[in-house]
Amino acid sequence: MTLNDSRILVVGAGLMGAGIAQVAAQAGHDVALFDARAGAAEAAKAKLAQTLDGLVAKGRLAADAAQAALARITPIDALCTADLVVEAIVENLDIKRALFADLEALLPAEAVIATNTSSISVTALARGMKRPERLVGMHFFNPVPLMKLVEVVSGLGTAPDVAQAVFDLAHRWGKTAVHTRSTPGFIVNRIARPYYAETLMLLQDRAAAPELLDALLRAAGFRMGPCELMDLIGHDTNFAVTNSVFAANFFDRRFTPSLVQQELVDAGFFGRKSGRGFYRYPEGAPALPAVAVATPTAAQIVVHGKGVVADRFAAALPDAVRELDSDWTGLNVDGRQLRLTDGRRTTELSRGGAVFDLPLAASGDIAFAGDAATAAWLTVLGLTPRAVADVPGLVVARTVAMLINEAADAVQQGVCDEAGADAAMKLGVNYPAGPFEWLARWDRRAVVALLDRLDQHYRGERYRVSPYLK
Ligand code: NAI
Repeated sequence: MTLNDSRILVVGAGLMGAGIAQVAAQAGHDVALFDARAGAAEAAKAKLAQTLDGLVAKGRLAADAAQAALARITPIDALCTADLVVEAIVENLDIKRALFADLEALLPAEAVIATNTSSISVTALARGMKRPERLVGMHFFNPVPLMKLVEVVSGLGTAPDVAQAVFDLAHRWGKTAVHTRSTPGFIVNRIARPYYAETLMLLQDRAAAPELLDALLRAAGFRMGPCELMDLIGHDTNFAVTNSVFAANFFDRRFTPSLVQQELVDAGFFGRKSGRGFYRYPEGAPALPAVAVATPTAAQIVVHGKGVVADRFAAALPDAVRELDSDWTGLNVDGRQLRLTDGRRTTELSRGGAVFDLPLAASGDIAFAGDAATAAWLTVLGLTPRAVADVPGLVVARTVAMLINEAADAVQQGVCDEAGADAAMKLGVNYPAGPFEWLARWDRRAVVALLDRLDQHYRGERYRVSPYLK
C-alpha cells in the first residue's frame, strides 16, 4: 500500500490542521481542508498565504513553489472523499468517533484515516468503526512545518501496512517517522515526564531555586530548563498531561503529579500566558549570581576511576597520580574527595569533601553538594560549580537517569525500539541526545546503581528500575 500520490482531506483547520495542510501541499498533494466552524478553513488558507509569503520574503521558499502549494489547498464546506484523511479536530473521544462514522459513510474501502490525537488511545478511537484496521495515529508536533518528528501510532486493530504507508508518507514529507504502539503518552509525552517530575521533586525538597535548576539543565545541553519550559507550555496544560498519563497508567505512583505544580495551577499561575508561573513575565528567570571561585591549590592530587570524567580530570591535571582501579570517580585532593555522584549523598560518602553532578557539557554550570573549596577543583574542567542541597543524584544525573529509565520501560513494553526513542526525544522535544545515546556514553551499571539509591532514599515506585536495564 502507498499513500504517496494520495488526495488528502484535512479535517480541523486549527493550529495543527493548518500546518498539516501546508506540509502536505508543499509535498505536492491536493489537499481539501474542512472545519466545522464556518469560514475557518478559508481563514486558515488566508493565514497560510501570509506564512508562505513570509518564507518567500526570507528566501526560504521559491515564489512559484509557494504559489503552487497554496493553489493545491481547497477549503471545503462539507466532508468529501479522499485517499487519506488526517483528522486534527478537538481532542474529544466521542466527537472524533462521530467524525470517523461520517467519514466511513463517504470513503472508499481502502482509504486511510489518520488521527493527530496527542492523548487519546487510537485503539479506543477505532472501536465501532466498520474498518478499524484503517485508523492509525499520525502525531505531529507543534509547529508542524518546523518539527521533524511524526509518531505513527498503531492501535490494537491498525493494519501494519496502513501504519507503514503513513510512516513512508511522513518521510516523503521530510519528516522523521517513528513507529509506536498506542499507549499513554505514546513515546515523547511519556519519556519526557521525568524531565518535569525530577525538577518538581527537587523544588519540593527545596534543593535549589528554579532559576538554578534551569541553568544546570541548560548547561547539560537542554534547550530550555524544565521550569521555563513548563512556564512556556502552561502549567494547566503540562499538569493535565501529567495527570492523564498518571490516570491512564492506573495511578502507577511512578507518574505521580506534583503538589508544587498543583499549587501553581490552583493559583492560576499558568506561566507566560498568565504573566506568572515559576517566574514573572515579561522578565522571566532572574539571572544567577556570579560565583567567585578561589583558584584551588593542593600538595597531592589523585584522579580516581576510569571513563570519560576521570579521563577529563587526568587530561586537565597531567601531574596527578592516577588510581584506575578505584570504585569511585573523581579527585582525591590532599585527602578530601570530590566524587562524581553515584546516587549517594555527600554526608554518606565524601568525608568532608563534595559530590558533583554528571558533567554532560565541556563547560558551564554544574551542581555540587558539600565543601565549596573541594568543589572549586571542578574549575579545572572548565566548569562553574554551583551549590545545591545534599540530594541524591543531584540534578542532571538523576534527571538523565530517569529519562533513560522511562525510555527503557517503553522499549521493554514494546512501545518503540531504542532508535525510535532516541529519534523521538531529539526531534519531538529537542533533547541534546537520545536516552540510549546517553546510556551508551554513561555506564549501564552506574545508571542502575544511581536509580536504586534514589529508590532507597525516596521509597515508592517512582525510581523503580526498568527490567530492561537490569
Ligand atoms: P485547534 O483548536 O487549534 O483546532 C481544532 C479545529 O477543529 C478548530 O478549528 C475547530 O473548529 C475544529 N473542529 C472541532 N470539531 C470539529 C468537527 N467535529 N469537525 C470538523 N472540525 C472540527 O486545536 P489544535 O491545537 O490544532 O489540535 C487539534 C488536534 O491535534 C487535537 O486532537 C490535539 O490534541 C492534537 N495536537 C495538538 C498539538 C498542539 O500542540 N496544539 C500537538 C499535537 C497534536
